[in-house]
Amino acid sequence: MTHIVVTGGSGKLGRAVVADLVDHGYQVTNLDRRPPADAVSGYVQVDFTDYGQILAALLGVDDRYDTVDAVVHLAAIPAPGLTTNTATFTNNITSTHHVFAAARAAGIKTVVWASSETVLGLPFGPESPPPYIPVDEEYHPRPSTSYSLSKTLEEEMAGQFCRWDPELSLTGLRFSNVMDPADYAAFPAFDADPATRMWNLWGYIDARDGAQAIRLALEAARPGADIFIIAAADTVMSRSSASLAAEVFPDVSITRDLGERETLLGIDKARRILGFAPQHSWREHAAQPAD
Ligand SMILES: NC(=O)c1ccc[n+]([C@@H]2O[C@H](COP(=O)([O-])OP(=O)(O)OC[C@H]3O[C@@H](n4cnc5c(N)ncnc54)[C@H](O)[C@@H]3O)[C@@H](O)[C@H]2O)c1
Repeated sequence: MTHIVVTGGSGKLGRAVVADLVDHGYQVTNLDRRPPADAVSGYVQVDFTDYGQILAALLGVDDRYDTVDAVVHLAAIPAPGLTTNTATFTNNITSTHHVFAAARAAGIKTVVWASSETVLGLPFGPESPPPYIPVDEEYHPRPSTSYSLSKTLEEEMAGQFCRWDPELSLTGLRFSNVMDPADYAAFPAFDADPATRMWNLWGYIDARDGAQAIRLALEAARPGADIFIIAAADTVMSRSSASLAAEVFPDVSITRDLGERETLLGIDKARRILGFAPQHSWREHAAQPAD
């Protein structure tokens, strides 16, 4: 059975990823510095800022497993502002370096890891608009926080690791804001004011669809570094996406026809190359306001 280790498997996205991989027949071990709330998979305590610990974990752990086939790397401080800027940057970039380096040293060729929508230039607003709509993977990152800077440099680092080792596959997924079903109760309130969620072009990703993207990226892995935006198919708003873009970003060009409530965080590349097809919308979970 294919054995996948998930770093950060005790976290919000990690829980959904572990459950999805187990459901799809993978052997899964969660590596995290804090234990999971439930025991869906094996668990080993690891701190990724310590290279020795992650290398040892990828080489095998007594009474747990002997080999690892692929790594899903999610462990990080997941947003700016949760701790100091430098603590966020240091934890995240050190952990990602150590995971990439240890995977390479252990002969593991496939890593799928969490980048972030923030590299696209968040927070967007009238004074800091996106270059065009929908945004995609075609323009250079525009980090504005230490968190986003760490993700930007991790994307660059992935490219350099793959240059050193042409057999390595490092797939970065630029997740939008991760949501569990319990979060959807807050969504109807976003409708009243487009400014509330303009910072990420009204995007989000259901954790279960984030897990789908990770599984598809593992299964589609091919040598080299690549990145994909991963977002829900729709926005958090009930207004049309075209009217939102025109009102809040009147000078930004819209590069193609938009579906009624289509995401403005372009997922065309993920659909085309990974076969990503989001299954979940907040609209199934939260009562919508009357039109
Ligand atoms: N939550 C979002 O909206 C969002 C959006 C885009 C990208 N991401 C990225 O997705 C990934 C998962 O995010 P999440 O929302 O599940 O975060 P989370 O905080 O719920 O989970 C992260 C997990 O990583 C672990 N961790 C962090 N640093 C560690 C270290 N040095 N050693 C061991 N374990 C460590 C934590 O204990 C935690 O369980 C992160 O890389 C985050 O940057 C999250």
